[in-house]
Amino acid sequence: MLVFDHVTKRFGANTAIDDVSLTIRPGVITAVIGPNGAGKSTLVNMAAGSFRTTSGRILLDDVALQDLPKYKIARAGLSRTYQNIRLFDGLTVLQNLEVALVPRSLPRLIMQAFGLSPGSSEAEARSDCETVLQRLGIAHLGERHAGSLAYGQQKLVELARAIVARPRAILLDEPAAGLNHGETDELKAHIQALRSPDLAIVLIEHDMKLIMSVSDEIYVMARGAVLAHGTPEAIRGNRQVQEAYLGQPGAMGTIEAAARGRRNRIRVRAGEGLAWGQP
Ligand SMILES: Nc1ncnc2c1ncn2[C@@H]1O[C@H](COP(=O)(O)OP(=O)(O)OP(=O)(O)O)[C@@H](O)[C@H]1O
Ligand SMILES: [Mg+2]
Repeated sequence: MLVFDHVTKRFGANTAIDDVSLTIRPGVITAVIGPNGAGKSTLVNMAAGSFRTTSGRILLDDVALQDLPKYKIARAGLSRTYQNIRLFDGLTVLQNLEVALVPRSLPRLIMQAFGLSPGSSEAEARSDCETVLQRLGIAHLGERHAGSLAYGQQKLVELARAIVARPRAILLDEPAAGLNHGETDELKAHIQALRSPDLAIVLIEHDMKLIMSVSDEIYVMARGAVLAHGTPEAIRGNRQVQEAYLGQPGAMGTIEAAARGRRNRIRVRAGEGLAWGQP
């Protein structure tokens, strides 16, 4: 379980995340949606250790992540993909994946320092990487340089790199951005295949069709606060959420006020619909 517990993030005078609490359960796909600048990527960046929280806690299976360095967060079981692709262009696809396995290979380095044989762990890691590439349909790209791949292929390599670390929580920041329809359908199948009882999956997306078809629950963010939380059906029928996306004149002010006034007090259980106005 990945928990954001009263998390705030300020950049100077700008409060990007304002006292947000989220619970991301394993076994389900939790979407985080919201207009540009809502704070979605900031949540991922804080969880993964790229940004420090201003206050609040982030817990993965009861391990507090908010003060840990990135590599320890990765070792604790959190993986992420980036909104803007961050692969090592000059490395091969397989090498890009092996980078994600550095925490696992540390004992191997220690063994080498002591002149011991690394044994099977290196071969195991290589085989894990190949298996993941195969599952994503890009096994044939393993020896290609990441920088030489098409954009859609690079997005899949990012996904592979996040998976191969065997995470307990995986945060996907706009994995479908820039993909065509065919690629998006393929991605959808890959995300659905990730669902497993001990993996918490966070999907940040603007593609509402994708969100509505794969997610089990949705948090809607607006201007750094949680505007709504519920099932896809409940969110689809929510007028304020629709307005947030349609960008009607004046809508954002209303949404902001609603979000700040009600943040973290809206709780919707599956099938109940959105409980607007209830404390
Ligand atoms: N490194 C940073 N330095 C200063 N301000 C930042 C930084 N990163 C994000 N912000 C600010 O935090 C707020 C939330 O940004 P964030 O990138 O989290 O939004 P988002 O919901 O991911 O938007 P988008 O859908 O466009 O990706 C914005 O006001 C943004 O300008
Ligand atoms: Mg973002």
